Amino acid sequence: MAKTPLPMKPTGWFQVAWSAEIKAGDVHRMTYFGTEMIAWRAASGQVTVMDAYCEHLGAHLGHGGTVDGEILRCPFHGWEWDSEGRNVCIPYEKRPNKGRRIRTYPVTEHSESVFIWFDEHRCAPYFDVTDVLSGFDDDKSAADYYPAYGHSTLFETGLEIHPQYVMENGVDFAHFKYVHNTPLVPEFTRHDFDAPVSYVDFTIAFDDVPAEEINSGVQAINSGIGVAGTKSWGMIDNRTLTSVTPIDDTTSDIRFTVWIGRTPDDESDQPSTRALRNARGVIEQFQNDIHIWKHQRYSDPPALSPAEFKGFNAIRQWATQFYPADFDPKAATAR
Ligand code: FES
Ligand SMILES: [Fe+2]
Repeated sequence: MAKTPLPMKPTGWFQVAWSAEIKAGDVHRMTYFGTEMIAWRAASGQVTVMDAYCEHLGAHLGHGGTVDGEILRCPFHGWEWDSEGRNVCIPYEKRPNKGRRIRTYPVTEHSESVFIWFDEHRCAPYFDVTDVLSGFDDDKSAADYYPAYGHSTLFETGLEIHPQYVMENGVDFAHFKYVHNTPLVPEFTRHDFDAPVSYVDFTIAFDDVPAEEINSGVQAINSGIGVAGTKSWGMIDNRTLTSVTPIDDTTSDIRFTVWIGRTPDDESDQPSTRALRNARGVIEQFQNDIHIWKHQRYSDPPALSPAEFKGFNAIRQWATQFYPADFDPKAATAR
């Protein structure tokens, strides 16, 4: 294992939970970007993510804090905090403390997932995280897929990896044969790294067929550096969401979610045995990637083959927009 030289406080959207983990009334503890946070869900369903400590005398709101309707009540002296982190009630005073605020993070929720916007300088979100079920260029939506949480997800915590490693996987055509046992290397048909949300498409074959007969592939939408969604076509109809969220300066959480397309007319909440088996196959492929990533040492400059230059240079250049302006990857690697 090797500590990454890349910045562990990148800007962007990051998954911090699956939606089902935070039910109405729940207060969920977590640490991301070196900061203890809580996520709580109000009676209305709205999720708030905020720093964990009460601005009054510092109680940890994740240890005994209670949700009451739309507010969170501190267990120490009963002060009440709203979804903007504002104090709205001191139970033994006439007025709340309007000046104090607990830091909150912008939240968005879809794809069975809760995402927060993190920016070290607290700038507002300037792009969206794409809904992996409805955000591709087709008429599909969540209704076309079996729910994934609880059986078709993978969570690994505390890995010495950086979100960029996972993004690089998307342009790394040569690894498919060795890590995923595909007989042919995929053919890239789109590399679009012009904006914070980037796109990579490629064709892929798991059976040994002539290149011109390949009729399947993957489209990927990278919503910043922390969240990548994929859609497969021409093979098992699946969508995946890969999220890497830094915990501190050395480690990250990985979440991986696989949705399998519904059998026509099957409206069940539970995936079919076939769907479960397919999802498990996709998760096993992803575990092969994790096995490499968690022992990898970031290489910069890397010894790229001529065919690899374009993709890797594009993604590494694209990634720098999410890092501090003064970040110099070469200096960091030389340390
Ligand atoms: S520490 Fe939270 S109300 Fe006093
Ligand atoms: Fe891979």
